[in-house]
Amino acid sequence: MRTVITKKLPLREMYVWELPVRIFHWVNAFCITFLIITGFIIAYPPAILSGTGAQQFGYWFGYLRFTHLTLGLILIINFLVRFYWFFAGNKFAKWNNYVPLTKRQWKGIFETVKVDVFLLTPKPIYDIGHNSLAATTYLGVFVLIIVQAVTGLAMWSAASEAPGAGLFQDFLFKAGGFFFLRHLHYMVMWLFILFIIAHVYLVFYHDYIERNGIASSIIGGWKFIDERLAKDYVNELNATEELDKKKHEIKELEKEVKETKAKHNG
Ligand code: HEM
Repeated sequence: MRTVITKKLPLREMYVWELPVRIFHWVNAFCITFLIITGFIIAYPPAILSGTGAQQFGYWFGYLRFTHLTLGLILIINFLVRFYWFFAGNKFAKWNNYVPLTKRQWKGIFETVKVDVFLLTPKPIYDIGHNSLAATTYLGVFVLIIVQAVTGLAMWSAASEAPGAGLFQDFLFKAGGFFFLRHLHYMVMWLFILFIIAHVYLVFYHDYIERNGIASSIIGGWKFIDERLAKDYVNELNATEELDKKKHEIKELEKEVKETKAKHNG
């Protein structure tokens, strides 16, 4: 006789990723994928490799470079909006998730490395937002986006008379010249490729071991969180709200005392 096995813990549905985080994610994923494809063709132009004249191919290589530049500009604007959201977003989108400054974050990194890299245990990592290792990796991705933006704009400035290009031309010379920046830009592209392979694999691996709907969460925003963890979080939120209310009340009372004293003295 077949039996149905259910492994689910008591779970609570929680809205974790707000719309700006999800839009950032997919614009980012789209731009980076097509930047890699167009970047590869720019690095190894078929017209030159086949030994035929570029003119034979019409102006397609120009369109390709234009597409690469446009995607790069969209990536930069998208990142600037996300930068604002590091401060305006909810607890899981805030900047401090990505910078490992606390003991708890470092402990989380070691625990996740044991699961993800050494496969020592398929023990789930129960975090409501990003786990600490993922978040630290995203900090690396944000730095790589900045490096690609600066090196890309510096290379673009070499042949441009657009306003602002002069600024990047100075940088181009000071930072080691066109060839150095071109190599750096190319090597960072490979870091993005490695990141994407590891990232997509780990998202589905964690989806499987944690059974928390993490893969679909970046589309809809909702995750399924262990009831106990969700309760602790809600209690923490309520306690913070209560504390803020009390602080506000104390401030109002202090104001009243000051006014009464002023009246008395006057
Ligand atoms: C070019 C491809 C991709 C890139 C560059 C990329 C990059 C990123 C970055 C930078 C974040 C952090 C977002 C933030 O906190 O603002 C993130 C989170 C996330 N990504 Fe991707 N991503 C890619 C593809 C995918 C795909 C195909 C999936 C599959 C569902 C996926 C699922 C997720 C999930 C679930 C999270 C949040 C959960 C977590 O890891 O903590 N990503 N991704």
